[in-house]
Amino acid sequence: MVSILLLLGLLLPAIGAQSVGVCNGRLGDNLPSEQEVVDLYRANGIGRMRIYDLNQATLQALRGSNIELILDVPNSDLQTLASDASAATQWVQNNVRNYFPDVKFRYISVGNEVDPNSGTAQFVPFVLPAMQNIYKAIAAAGLQDQIKVSTATYSALVSDSYPPSQGNFKDNARSFMEPIIGFLVNNRSPLLANIYPYFGYIGDPVNIQLPYALFTAPGVVVEDNSYQYSNLFDAMLDAMYSAVEKVGGQGLEIVVSESGWPSEGGNAATMDNASTYYRNLINHVKGGTPKKPGNAIETYLFAMFDENLKPNAETEKHFGLFYPNKQPKYQVTFN
Ligand SMILES: *[C@@H]1O[C@H](CO)[C@@H](O)[C@H](O)[C@H]1NC(C)=O
Repeated sequence: MVSILLLLGLLLPAIGAQSVGVCNGRLGDNLPSEQEVVDLYRANGIGRMRIYDLNQATLQALRGSNIELILDVPNSDLQTLASDASAATQWVQNNVRNYFPDVKFRYISVGNEVDPNSGTAQFVPFVLPAMQNIYKAIAAAGLQDQIKVSTATYSALVSDSYPPSQGNFKDNARSFMEPIIGFLVNNRSPLLANIYPYFGYIGDPVNIQLPYALFTAPGVVVEDNSYQYSNLFDAMLDAMYSAVEKVGGQGLEIVVSESGWPSEGGNAATMDNASTYYRNLINHVKGGTPKKPGNAIETYLFAMFDENLKPNAETEKHFGLFYPNKQPKYQVTFN
């Protein structure tokens, strides 16, 4: 009995102490090799990774690493996978079965930020059929309980997010998301969601105070019936939960598949603000949101490195936690 208790005492902290994950984008021409990147994750105790580009060298380097992985299906592959079940079988063979179980696949994210109101609108019809075909291929391999098939959405699909209980998918996003939520409920998969208080703040700096976005507000900022919000991250995540619940997703878990703050290139993008954000976020996600208290929020920080080839706003190039030379930008601990 004593030895069992001792053993439990030794094991429980290890089980409870899940570290945050980090997204491993590779849109840079000066990044370390895939093996060096995996080594850097391990040296920093980062136990989870998201990758976007089906980089076989990364999958190879992950073998035996014990790092749990979100593997993206790039948006550009969705149409083929939606229309051709054998293409999905081949995709799962090439990118999953060839590496399983040496690589610990956790989720497959079928598409990222597909949005009927943005430049990704063309992909809307393909997301659910691609999820279904990938799921069938995963199930045919007997892996459906170990590797969950999902998609990564983001806050732009949600309207009326103030206060969070009013969160609702926009009219033309609801018909897109509702059957996807049904698929996730049926298959007991979480929804993945990219949650960026940074973009919330810079989109409305008049009404949103910077401390609310950086987890440094001294007290409650938003009262929402019985829920009290002192940070924008919880408010944005609970607005997503509210939207999901309104289309049949009661009980569905949301995994935060990206969150970060840039250090340079725009409003509020400073080393100090970014460092404050990442440090407080890592600490904060050990507990839940007002709507979902208690359990840790599974969260992936964006991103591992500054990526000098990222298009669009200058800030996009400065979301890294590390410089391309592997030096840390901030003093943060990941576990
Ligand atoms: C954070 O961003 C705000 C808004 O742009 C800026 O005024 C402030 O100087 C920044 N704070 C730090 C500590 O860098």
